[in-house]
Formats: sequence, C-alpha cells, structure tokens
Amino acid sequence: MAFSTPPEVLEAIRARLSQKIIGYTKAYHPGYLLSFENWCERHYGYRFPRESIVLSPGVIPALYRLVPLLTRQDESILILTPSYAPFKKAGEYSDRRVISCPLKSNSGYMTVDFDAMQNLVQDNTLRIKAFFLCNPHNPTGRVWHPHELRRMTEICLENDVWIISDEIHCDLTRIGISHTPAASLFPHSQKIITCMSSSKTFNLAGNLLANIMIPDPGVRTAWLRLHDEFVSPLSLAANIAAWSQCDEWLLQVKRYIDGNFLFLSEWLKKHLPRVRYSIPEGTYLAWIDLAPLSAQDEPKFTSHFFAEKAGVLVEDGSMFVGNGDNHIRLNLACPRAVLSEGLLRIYLALTAST
Ligand SMILES: Cc1ncc(COP(=O)(O)O)c(C=O)c1O
Repeated sequence: MAFSTPPEVLEAIRARLSQKIIGYTKAYHPGYLLSFENWCERHYGYRFPRESIVLSPGVIPALYRLVPLLTRQDESILILTPSYAPFKKAGEYSDRRVISCPLKSNSGYMTVDFDAMQNLVQDNTLRIKAFFLCNPHNPTGRVWHPHELRRMTEICLENDVWIISDEIHCDLTRIGISHTPAASLFPHSQKIITCMSSSKTFNLAGNLLANIMIPDPGVRTAWLRLHDEFVSPLSLAANIAAWSQCDEWLLQVKRYIDGNFLFLSEWLKKHLPRVRYSIPEGTYLAWIDLAPLSAQDEPKFTSHFFAEKAGVLVEDGSMFVGNGDNHIRLNLACPRAVLSEGLLRIYLALTAST
C-alpha cells in the first residue's frame, strides 16, 4: 500500500519502544492471540483453534517451510493459474513438481474448472499431494464463494491432498463482499492449513509476522521442531493494536480503495473502452486484459514496455506462471491522484503504440 500504517499501530510501537528494552521475545502476551481470534470472530465469524496457531516471519516463508513437511520429493503441488508466482517457486525450491490448473474465463470473470482440477488430482501419474489455494485470489481478485471453496476442498480431501490456504488478502474485500476461511467450512478437517497476516491489511509487511493455522498435530510438531517462535516485540505490539483498534481505519481504507476501483472502471470505459476489465471482489489489485489492443500473438504490453514508455511499474501476465497473457496487474492502494497520473501515462504509451 502507499498509505500510512494506522496511527494507532504507530503509537503502539512507540509505546513499546518507550519500555527501552527490546530483548528476545515470544508471543507470551495473551493479547496477541486473543486480538487475532477476536478479529477473525468479528470479521469472519470463525475462531481458529488456538492450539493450531504457529508463527512465521511471513506467509511466503511458511509456504517454503510447508512444502517439505507435507510432500515427498516424488510428489507434486497443484496451483490455479494465473498464480501468485511464489507458489510455484516454493514448490520448485524443494524440487517438487508444480502442476497448473488454468482458471476459466466467463467473460473475464475467472472461475475454477472443477472437472479439470479433479482430473489432475486423480491422475496417479502426477502424484499431487498439496494444493495452494489463494483466497482472495492474487492476481484475479476473486473472493471464492463458499460453494466454490467447498467443491475445491472436497476434491482435495477425497484424494488425500493437503490444502494450504493463503488468505493474506482476506481483509481487503470490496465493501459488501465477505471472505470465508476455507477451514471454517470444514472445521473438523486436519488437512486445511490457513495462512493469515496483518501485513497487507495494515501495511505492516516489514513486521515479518504471520499466523499459520496447522490443525494436524503431527505437522505442527514437525514445524515447531524446525522453527523457533521468536518474534520482535515491536511486531507483537503493532499487531495487537491493529487487530483491536483499527476496524474503523480499515473501513475507511476499503471505502477509498473501492472508490479507486470505480474510478478505474469509469476511466477505462471512457478512454480505453476495448480493454476488458471488471471490478474484482477482493484485493487492491486490478487485473486488466489488454488483448483487444494487441494485434500480435506475442504479448506486447509487458512490464518493460510500461516502465520504458510510461515510467509506470506494472506487473505483466508473464509474472503469474501462466494463463495471464496480455494482462497487467495494477496496485490500486494508492492516492487517486497517483492513480490518475499513472493511467494518463499508460494511456499515452498505449495510444502511441497502437
Ligand atoms: C497471495 C500472497 N501471499 C503472500 C504474500 C506475501 O506474504 P508475506 O509478505 O507475509 O511473506 C503476498 C504479497 O503480495 C501475496 O499476494
């Protein structure tokens, strides 16, 4: 985000600093887990079992750590494409094969091809043992409906496949759209691992702290044997403040980001009407299909193109593993004036080259 971290959070960090000692710390303060549990209860109507929670320096480190705990070398991992690239990297880092299941486009609205997913999971030659679920989905912004989550989860559970549900964008849905933790639909399953963090919601990525809910005691014990749980006392203070004092701040940020999405939508209709785009259900990321502007087969509008011709850094489809040709991803968590200037520059670069 290009927005300041909430003042309540900054104040909590200052107050912790005034204690003058920043020694080794674990989450001894009950307020840490309690504020997280209360946050989940207020926003998602669900409390993760407290004993399932382990701490990680981030969601990405957790993905890397979980792969060797859940899969063997000859087993593989399933992702939905387009995909957040670290899912693929986390699998490949441990020499696991990563199998893509492309999302289907219904006039630009991306949905899961359940038949294709089931065929892949049931294909014994592929040996899929884990599925990286991204909910809300980066880059498409889909917030999976409970019936979609149920179907994906059932396909996995019926075939003994672990689900690693990355829910880092869960707080950033459009107003009126609610997020469902996959684990809340199957509270008795031990095969759904959930990753959450305050980092996207409150611009706290540098805090290096995420909560990973691992219901399976065996996997949790293996994790805890390998990874200690020391955390920065400043991160703990920041998180407690974020989860207990910043509901109103988040509502205001969401209103602003929703406004940016509307602005983008109107702007594209007016200036680039051939471009395919719809407001996503979640995330602060816009996923825009520029294919109608590109006559060539070879994707032309790359990150490099926009950096060079427009002076704007966007991420292009090639950064999302597959199924993203001719798309760009824009980050809309920024002041509208910046968005407006960026769009003008993008427009000028596109019109000069089409
Ligand atoms: C889906 C997803 N997971 C994880 C991350 C990063 O997680 P962390 O900073 O906690 O490692 C991002 C950041 O863009 C993301 O989009």
